[in-house]
Amino acid sequence: MENLVLQHLENGILCVTINQEKKLNALSAAIIQQLSNTLDQAATNTKVKAVIITGAGNKAFVAGADITEFLALNKAGGIQLAKEGQEKVFSKIENFPKPVLAAVNGFALGGGCELAMACHLRIASPNALFGQPEVKLGLIPGYGGTQRLAQLVGKGKAIEMLLTADMINAQQALDLRLVNHVVEADQLLPKANELLQKIIQRAAPLAVTRIIECVNAYYDKKQDGYAKELESFGSCFATHDFREGVAAFLEKRNPEFKGY
Ligand code: COA
Repeated sequence: MENLVLQHLENGILCVTINQEKKLNALSAAIIQQLSNTLDQAATNTKVKAVIITGAGNKAFVAGADITEFLALNKAGGIQLAKEGQEKVFSKIENFPKPVLAAVNGFALGGGCELAMACHLRIASPNALFGQPEVKLGLIPGYGGTQRLAQLVGKGKAIEMLLTADMINAQQALDLRLVNHVVEADQLLPKANELLQKIIQRAAPLAVTRIIECVNAYYDKKQDGYAKELESFGSCFATHDFREGVAAFLEKRNPEFKGY
């Protein structure tokens, strides 16, 4: 099987590289499946504390879903494509128990912009370009773009981007809070590692997971985010890491978190 998704684990951070540079890392069904498998393994591998997702080469993060796979689809096929992608990758990332960061190193269009938005954190290099060009193909986003873009940049700007298909550059994405940081291209992975290392070194892993769940609950109409926070706050008191964190503070030493 062709290695369309590369993995490199170093110091607790799994760097996942979508590896089809000649197609600008467009998300084919095969890439979606390999990403899905990679995420499943990363979720249970205790050596993995955080994940970076990036694209191979210096031109694209991901230039969208693979358009060549669209033509054969009818209505049911379109629904199936979007549903499978959401379940296997996009929702899985959003609800991932460990922090996932998108290191956006070029075009992040359509499914690429959606992939970045599904991640918990986003860093971009100056050549990054974000956009949702689906309308130009007679389509709309199918991997959560209409929902997450509105959450991140607000309804008005989201509708403008979705209807015009305009691309925005890294600085505009920063101004709109679509990305957390913009750094020079050669600093993209170092900055990504630095940010995730800060989380790994400071934060109790269970608290990290609970925070991701609670913030997600805010955007989930089926959940009461405040109730979720109450319950999660309480559950922290039943953990070893809470005792350890408080003991370490009182003893003026660094905590040794165990993840339970
Ligand atoms: N799906 C399939 N193939 C894609 C692709 C996609 N989403 N995006 C790029 N590619 C392919 C191109 O077809 C081309 O293949 P070829 O060399 O066999 O012709 C190769 O990647 C390089 O892209 P190219 O268009 O030649 O590069 P460019 O620098 O001229 O333009 C883009 C870059 C990103 C502006 C342009 O590729 C583009 O508009 N891509 C589609 C973006 C899109 O609509 N995404 C949403 C899909 S729902």
